[in-house]
Amino acid sequence: LATPPSLYETVPLNLKGVALNLEGMEMEGMKSGSRRIIVEKPFGYDLESAVKMNSVLKSVFNESQIFRIDHYLGKETVQNILALRFANSIFEPIWNRHYIESVEITAVENMGIEDRGGFYDGVGALRDMVQNHLIQLLALVAMEPPVIFGEQEFRDEVVKVYKSLKPLSDQEIPARVIRGQYIAGEKRGEMAKAYREEKGVRHDSQTETFLAMRVDISNWRWEGVPFFIRTGKQMPTKVTEIIIHFRQTPHRLFSCRDNCPEQNQLIIRIQPNEGIVLKYDVKIPGSGFNVQQVPMEFTYDKIGELSDDAYSRLIEESLSGDSTLFTRSDAVEASWNYFDKVLRFWENHPETPLYGYPAGSWGPLESEQITGSEKGWTNPCKNLTNTNLYCEL
Ligand code: BG6
Repeated sequence: LATPPSLYETVPLNLKGVALNLEGMEMEGMKSGSRRIIVEKPFGYDLESAVKMNSVLKSVFNESQIFRIDHYLGKETVQNILALRFANSIFEPIWNRHYIESVEITAVENMGIEDRGGFYDGVGALRDMVQNHLIQLLALVAMEPPVIFGEQEFRDEVVKVYKSLKPLSDQEIPARVIRGQYIAGEKRGEMAKAYREEKGVRHDSQTETFLAMRVDISNWRWEGVPFFIRTGKQMPTKVTEIIIHFRQTPHRLFSCRDNCPEQNQLIIRIQPNEGIVLKYDVKIPGSGFNVQQVPMEFTYDKIGELSDDAYSRLIEESLSGDSTLFTRSDAVEASWNYFDKVLRFWENHPETPLYGYPAGSWGPLESEQITGSEKGWTNPCKNLTNTNLYCEL
């Protein structure tokens, strides 16, 4: 179903009409084999439509025949979050509220909406990126280790994270969810047009092309640790990364001159310059006792080539019937249950600011405030070590 979403109910019902949903049927003396359907996002437009879509799909197929595809789960570097956490013993003991202060998840792009105005307008960043890709990344960082890496066990843990998301109240939403829309601006020396001037976009569109928000998880491991997520179109660069900010040492023994060290950080770079960076402090050589922060870095180009085709990997898995890396219906609904409150709030409070930000900038300044720290969001360009990649500080 890589079709317009309006056909997501029609197609399955018509497949049923010609019995293409049934497995093991006798047909012309032969038994039909597997019958599977791959469903491309969006899985619904809000909670209500997602529930309806699930019920139509399930009236035609068994859950084991339905493969809801989220291409982020096909990315090697996304899958590697699981290896990093669960194949190593050194991270897990500190992977909790005692040692982690906050988590930042950024997935920004330097393109506008290209020729997708017809689809994107009225959908926006929350539905296009946050409710699926970004919350999926958050789940991989926050989940408990599954008992085995099996279809049900892994996805049970994802759903548990979604069910632990602390519901946002109407009072919290304006300060915790910042939305923006790009206006005309200069990008790498060229003028980029405003979102409202793009093909297929209404001239008074209220669709957000940028979203930054604070998400809290209510459970034993994460109580009190904010997860900051942001996404945007027409940003200075294209980058997806997760930064785990560890807490400050309880007592500062050493002084620093300028460039004082920050807290330890573990940076999981999903794209580009794929890899993992651990930032820690060392003594500055020479007299005196001052420290500075240095990166310890692994990049994938050191161990092999990364395929950038997440879809082919996932399609292969669906052909072999393995749905571990596909979204289960209860996960779709649990995630919508959380984000629906934001959508309803915007609907009922159209006066909620939709901040304009110039194309080529890092989004509305107001989004810096939600981090609650003077430093604001980390500029991903600071962490890039591959200097061939274009990035703007
Ligand atoms: C898609 C969204 O799911 O993901 C697009 O619909 C977005 O708007 C894309 O550009 C981003 O994917 P990637 O793999 O380039 O980060």
